[in-house]
This record gives sequence, structure tokens and C-alpha cells, in this order.
Amino acid sequence: MFRASISIFPVKVLGEIDPRIYGHFIEHLGKCIYGGIWDAEKSTLNEEVIKCVRDLQPPVVRWPGGCFSDNYHWMDGIGPVEERPLRENMPWSLLGPEFGPKESNRFGTDEFIMFCRRVGAEPYINLNVGSGTPEEAANWVEYCNGDESSEFGSLRAKYGNPAPYKVRYWGVGNELYGLWETGHMSAEDYAEKFIEYHDAVKEIDRKIELVAVGADQRFPDWTRTVLEKAGKYIDYLSIHLYFPGALPEEGGSEIKEDLKTYRRIIASSYKFQEILEWVRNIIESVMGKNHGVKIAFDEWNLWWDFNQLIHANYNMRDGLWAASVLNKIHKMSSIIKMANVAQLVNVIGILQTNGENVLKTASYEVMKLYREHTQKYAISAEVYAPKFTFEPLGILNETTEIPYIDCSATRSSDGKTLTVFVVNFHPKKDILTEIEIPKLRSYEKLLIKEMNGADIHTKNDYQKSEITISQKEFTHLPDKIEYKLPAHSISTIIVTKA
Ligand code: AHR
Ligand code: AHR
Repeated sequence: MFRASISIFPVKVLGEIDPRIYGHFIEHLGKCIYGGIWDAEKSTLNEEVIKCVRDLQPPVVRWPGGCFSDNYHWMDGIGPVEERPLRENMPWSLLGPEFGPKESNRFGTDEFIMFCRRVGAEPYINLNVGSGTPEEAANWVEYCNGDESSEFGSLRAKYGNPAPYKVRYWGVGNELYGLWETGHMSAEDYAEKFIEYHDAVKEIDRKIELVAVGADQRFPDWTRTVLEKAGKYIDYLSIHLYFPGALPEEGGSEIKEDLKTYRRIIASSYKFQEILEWVRNIIESVMGKNHGVKIAFDEWNLWWDFNQLIHANYNMRDGLWAASVLNKIHKMSSIIKMANVAQLVNVIGILQTNGENVLKTASYEVMKLYREHTQKYAISAEVYAPKFTFEPLGILNETTEIPYIDCSATRSSDGKTLTVFVVNFHPKKDILTEIEIPKLRSYEKLLIKEMNGADIHTKNDYQKSEITISQKEFTHLPDKIEYKLPAHSISTIIVTKA
């Protein structure tokens, strides 16, 4: 029997967890909007999707892209629907109509706000820097947040929404460091642009918060330069990470259902943390210790080729990986104040829909489980467990040893609830794990929710949910929890006292 141990330190607080780390992202790409959350035929929201999204308790949703946002002109998407223009979906139509179907503009700002209200989320709008202007952006902010007497606020009122939408989060462009992005530019030029946009939109609404484009190590100087020139105007620095983050010719196609791939995928959650720590260090070295710049990890997921981009169904392996990424986000909760899994529906979606039925992938179940049980503070958890190694791929450019057990812990502010999220990555073996929680006997109840499937590649389909969550409850607590963590499982261990 493999053995491991976990020690929890409730007084060692790592950070306050912002609920917005359980955010989402929707983009005009493939069938995410039309045929996903929007029923194009009935011109309404897809109610089946709404129900599942509500269950996720999404704190925030980002829209309209992604790469699409640097091509989007918001005025195309307001007013009487029959008068809205039909456009080419840029850039996605370049990959063909399955990726970029003709943009009818039936889903625009008012529909997005309606969607957010139905699912209980705060809206986060990504502005167009690639082909837009600061003025166009300011007008959009006024359309959303201006009162009825303002030029664009009155337009919103005319179209049926007199009360301002109070959209708080605004992204200034998307991935503009990348050659693939419309309007891509140097970090110097972006910093200047950011300030221009800042000045224009803040004149309309001083209370909004701005997200600037940040970059990972593939663009080593971008983040530093942007922060040096524009740091004092930035509320959030956006970071996007995908694994393997490689096109098929660069190794994306090496994602198969085998053990070699499994180890690489699991290991990449550690790589994500390493990159995010690298970003944190840059922020601290440029802005000083008491800086106000937070990380918005506003796109993250597994994405390995263009076919999978629009036909994903995340399996148990991918769910274990998502749980492990969330554990890392908990650990970095003092700086990561928003995160948005990419994406919500159909397109690398944690939910899939064929228009009528809905399929909840393993990643959906993980997002839901974590959102339900995460408490206010991330606390320290030390793990001792057997380890494994893996072969490099994509951004995973070197090898090291990774423990089979991955864990994060959180507690409520009054200390009466404590949740430990534990993943057993072992593809075959249960691991007998001792979990040490100080004064365990003083708690009244222990609840364990365990998510698992028959094996690491088990996935749900439209007919049947093969991935299940079981539940056990105990009322007489011992001094130590000794628990057999099943192979390839996610356990949420919750202790509570009155
Ligand atoms: O989520 C798909 C795409 O990935 C987004 O449009 C872009 O921002 C990223 O490159
Ligand atoms: O639907 C978006 C909501 O509308 C925002 O959360 C709120 O601030 C606004 O009134």
C-alpha cells in the first residue's frame, strides 16, 4: 500500500481567496455563443445551459473574447435585432465557418448583461484595442454605466434598460503580444495604448477596474515593460495559460489517452504555478511590495489542437488536472484575485450542448465542487507523498518530480469550517493518507465528497454520467484522519463545528 501524509496549519494563512477565482469566459467562437448559451432559432438564452451555469455559482463572466474582442465593434450588437449588421467573425472565420460562423450580432451587450443576471454573475467586458479606439471604448463604458442623461446611457435606456449596468471589470485588449492577435504590438506601444484607454474610460466612470494584457515567459520582457510604463494605472494583469500550449506541429497532437500523456498533463499544473510565481516576482520587483496590481488569470485550460478547440470533452484525467490548478490558485490567493476557466460552453467548454441536451464534463464537476466548498482563507498544507516523473512537452520544458498527492486547504473566517481538497493522481493505486488537523476532536462533523470514475480516461456523455460524486459523513471524530484516497480521485474533506 502506498502511504502519504498531509499536515494542515489553520493559523498559517496564505491569502484571502477571492470568489472571482471561480470565474468563466465566453467568446464568439465556434458554438460557444450561437448554439451554446444562445438559442439562435428562438433568439433566447438556452435554458438548459442557464440551469447548469447557475449551479456553478459563477461570480464573474468575461466576454466577448479572446481574440474576437480585438475585432469587435460593440455598436454592431445593440438596438433592434433585425437592424444589426451581419459581419465576418474575425479572426475565427480564417479557420473556417465551424470556428468563425457569420456573426449575426444577435448576442450583444444587452444580451450579455441579461445572461449575467440570469446566472448571477458580474460582467467583465474585454475592450477592443486591436481595431478599436479609446473613444469607442469610452462610449461602450458609457452605454453600460452612464446614467440616462448621458449620450450613450440614453441609448441603453431607449433600448429598454434605463438603469445602468454597473459593469465593474474592463479588459484593455487581449494577448496583444502575440503575432496571431489583430493589432499586435510592442510592449512599449501597448503601455501607451493602455494609458490612452485608461484616461478615456476613467473619464466616464472612475469606479471601474482595468485589466491589462500581461504575458508569460514566452514573451519575457512584455510584462516588465508594461508595468514599468503603465503599472500605476493597472488594477489587474491578465495571464493566459493553456497546456500544452502547442499547435499539432509543435507537439499538440501528442495528447493521447495514454500514461505518458497523463503524467505530462498532471505535471503541467505545477508549471502553471511556476509561471504565475514568475509573474508575481516581476510585479513585486517593478511595483514594490505594497503594490496594488493583482493577477487576473483570465484564461486557463487544456487545449491541444484546433479540432479539440471546438469538440472538447474533458475526462477524469482533465478533471484531476483542473482540481490541481485550482489548488495552485488557492496557494497564490494573495495575488490571483480573478481566474476564468476557458471556456464555459462548447469551445474548450467545461459544458457541452447540442442545442437541446447538456453534457457536464469532469472539469465542470470540479469547478462546481470547489466553488461550493472553498472557504475564505487559503491556509498552509504540507504534503509528504511518493513521486513520479514525466517527459517534457510544450511549455513543460524540463522534468522534475511531482508528488502523487496534491492538496490545498481553506478555512472560514470564524475557523468553524475547514475544507481540504485532495487529489490522488496515481492512475492505479489507492494511497493511505494520514491527514493531521489540529484539535480534530473539537469539530463535530466530517463530510467527505469524493469524485471519481472507472479510470483516468472515463468521461461523461449525453446519455450517462460516468463520473460520480459520492458522499460520506462521520460525527465522532478521532485525533487523526486516516483515509484511503482512491486511485485517480478528488476528495473534498470538510470538517465543521457549531
Ligand atoms: O480561448 C481561445 C483563445 O485562446 C482566445 O480567444 C485567446 O485569447 C487565446 O489565445
Ligand atoms: O448583470 C450584471 C449586474 O448588473 C451586475 O453585477 C450589477 O452590478 C449590475 O446591476
